[in-house]
Amino acid sequence: MINRNMTIEKPKGTVGVLIPGLGAVSTTLIAGVYAVLRGLAKPVGSLTQMATIRLGKRTEKRTPMIKDFVPLAKLEDLEFGGWDIFPDNCYESAVKAGVLDGRLLEKIRPQLEAIKPMSAVFSRDYVRKLDGPNVKKGATKYDLALQLIEDCKHFQEEKKVSRCIMIWCASTEVFLKPTPVHTTMESFERGLKNNAPEIAPSMIYAYAALKSGIPFANGAPNLTIDIPALTQLAREQNLPICGKDFKTGQTLMKTIIAPGLKARMLGLNGWFSTNILGNRDGEVLDDPDSFKTKEESKLSVLEYILQPRMYPDLYGNISHKVSIHYYPPRRDNKEGWDNIDIFGWLGYDMQIKIDFLCRDSILAAPIVLDVVLFMDLAKRSGMSGIQEWLSFYFKSPMHAPELYPEHDLFIQLMKLKNTLRYMCGEEPITHLGLEYYD
Ligand SMILES: NC(=O)c1ccc[n+]([C@@H]2O[C@H](COP(=O)([O-])OP(=O)(O)OC[C@H]3O[C@@H](n4cnc5c(N)ncnc54)[C@H](O)[C@@H]3O)[C@@H](O)[C@H]2O)c1
Repeated sequence: MINRNMTIEKPKGTVGVLIPGLGAVSTTLIAGVYAVLRGLAKPVGSLTQMATIRLGKRTEKRTPMIKDFVPLAKLEDLEFGGWDIFPDNCYESAVKAGVLDGRLLEKIRPQLEAIKPMSAVFSRDYVRKLDGPNVKKGATKYDLALQLIEDCKHFQEEKKVSRCIMIWCASTEVFLKPTPVHTTMESFERGLKNNAPEIAPSMIYAYAALKSGIPFANGAPNLTIDIPALTQLAREQNLPICGKDFKTGQTLMKTIIAPGLKARMLGLNGWFSTNILGNRDGEVLDDPDSFKTKEESKLSVLEYILQPRMYPDLYGNISHKVSIHYYPPRRDNKEGWDNIDIFGWLGYDMQIKIDFLCRDSILAAPIVLDVVLFMDLAKRSGMSGIQEWLSFYFKSPMHAPELYPEHDLFIQLMKLKNTLRYMCGEEPITHLGLEYYD
């Protein structure tokens, strides 16, 4: 199917990247963008900066860079701003996060110091392990939403940006389930005015973004925008949304390996995953209610990839365990162990062991960059509501209620690239290939 009708507005002017949470992930992104612009390092891990896309038949030999194929905003056109409960500027926060080398941070220090967090909408009812002084006051959650809307307006005017994207990189909130408050805009706004406990700070940011005409992406596993009231508001406002929970580390590995095992029809008895992590995110996840939000996000992956109902002999009886341990000495350098009990021909068992010495924020930063640039592209292309083609980046991809989520990394990549081809009027690639042998 070739699409001939989509017009994509040119990326004129600058893009404001508004980030609730100026912690490890966001400062690694921001410092990284400045470092790349100064030629100090390469944007490794980013599809928008490093990947190519094949167009047409293999014989045509057309494989431009994605950034030359679709009209993306350029790195020099990004203006960063954000909110945090701590008043540290981006330089101080990056030093505390301890992800990037001090010598690198020194070289871009003035730019980082210029980014100071706006006061946050925060409550310890939703993130129990943290407390900070840079927090807004308001009689109701609705008042707080109005203050955030004012912040967005002020940022847009002061920085003279032509458009904005908001991306949640703040801490993981406690586990919440959708309730009637989340169903319609009427019930949601009533909840804001009545301080309904079902409305978490992240939902107030998402509401403020959408009301301000700003697309919203969710990098944490919180419910946030994945509720009917806000997905509907996104449609009405003609704004793209996506989430949840950046796919880095152990879940990235799971969604690479599980599709391979399934492709070869190898069976699985169990998958035991455990991590040690010592950054602030690890500390927040030490609270069982925040961890529950993360756990739900991490556990669903195997179920959807392996489809145990369709393959009961192979995947009907899997034991899947996930744990995260807060262990300060490791800081942002997580170590994740996986023990995978598989079986093959005639049921003979085998084991796979993975020891991934990963760097959480180094894996997350390019995801944030790509999501921001693709969300901006989606907005300029008139795409609104849930952007399922960005599932590639998320552990719990948002999806239409009648669909199951697609977790297989390779299907997700094909979906992403075919969406780009579709947007620009190119033929989607099916990998059928029979025509080469006619
Ligand atoms: N690093 C990864 O690999 C990865 C992967 C998936 C998801 N995530 C999620 O991304 C988020 C950020 O991770 P991180 O490692 O940067 O954590 P972090 O703790 O370093 O940064 C989060 C920041 O958010 C701030 N914050 C908390 N609540 C806030 C609020 N209501 N408003 C504004 N600021 C608030 C905190 O003060 C902190 O500075 C976490 O939710 C994490 O679970 C990270």
